Amino acid sequence: MYKTHTCGELRTEDVGKTVKLAGWVHRRRDHGGVTFIDLRDRFGITQVVFDSQTAPQAHQAADALRMEWVIQVEGIVRKRPPGSENPALATGEIEVAAQELRVLNSAKTPPFLIYKDEEIDEHTRLKYRYLDLRRERMRRNLELRHRVVKFIRDYLDERGFWEIETPILFKTTPEGARNYLVPSRLHPGEFYALPQSPQQLKQLLMVAGVERYFQIARCFRDEDQRGDRQPEFTQLDIEMSFVDREDVMQLVEDLFTKLVAAVVPEKRILASPFPRLSYREALERFGKDNPDLRYGLELVNVTDLMHNCGFAVFEQAIRSGGSVRGINVKGCGEYSRKQIDELTEFVKQFGAKGLAYIALPHEGEVRSTFAKFLSPEVQAALFERMRAEAGDLLVFIADKDKIVFEALGRLRVHLAEKLGLIDENVLAFCWIIDFPFVVWNEEEQRWDPSHHLFTAPMPEDIPLLDTDPGRARGQQYDLVLNNYEIGGGSIRIHDRALQEKVFKLIGLDLEVARERFGHMLEAFEYGTPPHGGIAPGIDRICMILAGEPNIREVIAFPKNQAARDVMAGAPSPVEPKQLEELHIRVELPATVQKS
Ligand code: AMO
Ligand code: AMP
Repeated sequence: MYKTHTCGELRTEDVGKTVKLAGWVHRRRDHGGVTFIDLRDRFGITQVVFDSQTAPQAHQAADALRMEWVIQVEGIVRKRPPGSENPALATGEIEVAAQELRVLNSAKTPPFLIYKDEEIDEHTRLKYRYLDLRRERMRRNLELRHRVVKFIRDYLDERGFWEIETPILFKTTPEGARNYLVPSRLHPGEFYALPQSPQQLKQLLMVAGVERYFQIARCFRDEDQRGDRQPEFTQLDIEMSFVDREDVMQLVEDLFTKLVAAVVPEKRILASPFPRLSYREALERFGKDNPDLRYGLELVNVTDLMHNCGFAVFEQAIRSGGSVRGINVKGCGEYSRKQIDELTEFVKQFGAKGLAYIALPHEGEVRSTFAKFLSPEVQAALFERMRAEAGDLLVFIADKDKIVFEALGRLRVHLAEKLGLIDENVLAFCWIIDFPFVVWNEEEQRWDPSHHLFTAPMPEDIPLLDTDPGRARGQQYDLVLNNYEIGGGSIRIHDRALQEKVFKLIGLDLEVARERFGHMLEAFEYGTPPHGGIAPGIDRICMILAGEPNIREVIAFPKNQAARDVMAGAPSPVEPKQLEELHIRVELPATVQKS
């Protein structure tokens, strides 16, 4: 046995015991005849003392120790002398007086300090991820993720769910991102697709009578990388039979409420039950369908006041079918021209042509690009609508709804960050419901499913599919936490005729549909129960609970932002022989240099 105790375990009750500890040299301090080593393992840190008086041999051996060497120590637990306790350490009241030291392994000097929480360039961190993971911040994140998944497994097990694995080598799935393909050696010219989610398989498990399924499921999507995206990520995938929307939402709400209490009790859920917003309301009030409810700064529609306001920019936008909306930035009435220009530049990134403003620095004082055009009545109505007071800054964008929402929605988040309105200890969950069932794809001149093509329309909206599809709502729900969509799901179509109708609506040729999803269509003819489910993203949830800025921080071995594993060096070219076996010839585009 290398150790009798972990490095996080010993307390004053253990004083007098002879113990063996093993771990890494975290830090070392020399005080003349005494050497102190902070010995670290995954469980904590214990101070070990090498004294030249009482254990001269061990003391001399300790001389050679360097950062991150792996050692084993045998010694006696004793109370630290009064005044030298360390309340920051769980073991801070004791130390181990070393009698024997064994070096288990030496270590090269690491490329960054393990004991210090400092800014390190991400490439270096990812290249030496095994060292990065030794750092306390990452250790904590790994543990948090373990706790989250463990809680979920226990919670669902207690409620009759089975965890069932589904294949990774599969076929194209309907989430709509690009697939990762795996060539088949046995079937030349044919490919597996890695699942973007277990969507079809979990529905087939419902046909199979499983009734309550979940899986901590790895999903693969070849899409552009962002801070909240990875090419492979993990979902808590859930599917249930004989449920309606309410049943699924209740279950998930209860799960997350209890999970927060158990795993991050220091965090506070803003509102329970979780607020529910229609998709339209989310856009109108926050400009986006993943609104952050932790602060105000809501959007205000002033279009009706601006029809003939005299300001050409607004009138023009309204005449071409757009709208004028604004935000009251409370307390920023004294913003300088430069500060307002900065906000204008910000919204221009998202397609806005400008940012009109009215600043109200003091009672009776108005600074504005366009207020001079407004009649006193319109100005008064505008101030009332915006709840404007002295000290406020009102900003407006006029454009097509899509641009106004996008630009103001982003500006709202930007302002909240800038003004320090975000309480990191608050968790604002909400549900977004009543999504449009289909959205118009301008480019391809057809309807696209707004969730995926197995989502059921609201029963009362089915007739609209024939007459006015754009107005039909889907039985879809998204779970939003703070500034992120953390889960999406729906009640599914369980009837072949309706499914085929939907294929037709979205312009999916029946032949193509049969080729891609024939197994689903066929299964639907053998007694399919009504069913529905959801898939919260584990990485995003852990990121938010850990207070981290991106999901790479809560994934042990993530890809970088260019979708590369810089530690192992993947993707990488393969041996010609391997390609031959797969009957694959590589033709690089002229722009790619052979490495
Ligand atoms: P959807 O495509 O909305 O639904 O995905 C559900 C959740 O998965 C997470 N997620 C991601 N996380 C990290 N990186 C990514 N690239 C990524 N893509 C998605 C998000 C998202 O909310 N089969 C359906 C679910 C269902 O209908 O039951 C699905 O996959 O948190
Ligand atoms: P211009 O007439 O383009 O010089 O713009 C006058 C003011 O209106 C400037 O402050 C612009 O930032 C602002 N502005 C221009 N276009 C828009 C728009 N579409 N929405 C809101 N403000 C705008």
